[in-house]
Amino acid sequence: MQLVSKINLTMLVTFAFGLAASSWYAYHLTQDNALRQVTDQAELLLEHAVALRNYTVNEIRPLTESGGDKYGVFHPQTVPAYAATQVANIFQKKRPEYSYKEAVFNPTNTRDNAAPWEEKIINQFIENPSLDKIVGSRYTKKTKSLYIAHPIKITNPSCLECHSTPDRAPASMVAKYGDKNGFGWKLGETIGTQMVLVPYTLPSLIAKQTFKSFIGSTALIFLALFIAINIMLHALIIKPIKTMTDAAEKLATGDIKGAKVNVYSRDEIAVLGSSINKLRRTLEKARQRSR
Ligand code: HEC
Repeated sequence: MQLVSKINLTMLVTFAFGLAASSWYAYHLTQDNALRQVTDQAELLLEHAVALRNYTVNEIRPLTESGGDKYGVFHPQTVPAYAATQVANIFQKKRPEYSYKEAVFNPTNTRDNAAPWEEKIINQFIENPSLDKIVGSRYTKKTKSLYIAHPIKITNPSCLECHSTPDRAPASMVAKYGDKNGFGWKLGETIGTQMVLVPYTLPSLIAKQTFKSFIGSTALIFLALFIAINIMLHALIIKPIKTMTDAAEKLATGDIKGAKVNVYSRDEIAVLGSSINKLRRTLEKARQRSR
């Protein structure tokens, strides 16, 4: 095998292993970053809903008498769950892949009814009371989403004013929602889950693009290095060695005059060239002496 082939093969094998290892690392790094980004978005959405709930309880509810006005009309706008869900639904019109829902087994408003997959999550919270969060992925309409679920537990006795029995609830509320749903909740009971869904689409697209451009630029750097090393190899080693081999061949066949090597630099190969020139001069002198 020729010298150039040996060097090129070594470079190719080293590059292949290096690229495989760094691709593996870059792939996991970009995927982890995407997951962290999506999780952060979901947490943000959830925290926003909690803030909205607090605002409704602390600033809107006190303006009314248990959610109803003096005319006996109940205003759901004073209910934190309603405020959070309404705002989420408005937001969802712009960003359909994002969703926030207060999924409940026995909800006051039937739109909050837990879907079968949400029921499974609520049951997990019921079975493990210490669990405060469940994170997972879900495929919906060709979109991969990340979900974060927090349990909804009745810890405040004031909730039971509206969610224990219809006769305890404000009459205006029962008039609006009926006396069938959203009652019978108990203190300490886990009744549902706050469910946030965030799409993976954009972060995973960014992760893929970052990964691809990393691989592309690494390959480009290698290609540039490969070409540069081959040009250098040819100019600094292969060509001078060929000249010297020709000179040595000429000396061997007695063509002493034609065996002159032009030396332009002072590197190791040039030193070899000077040595051939010295040998040529010595042989020339020996030939003159013998005449
Ligand atoms: C003044 C009455 C009232 C009080 C007090 C009240 N809620 Fe509600 N709650 C409602 C009404 C009415 C709805 C339905 C709102 C809608 O139309 O979305 C509701 C909805 C909910 C929902 C969404 C699921 C469903 O039932 O539709 C959750 C969860 C909830 N409430 C939890 C609580 C918790 C926890 C407390 C105590 C911190 C509480 N509620 C206190 C009236 C009340």
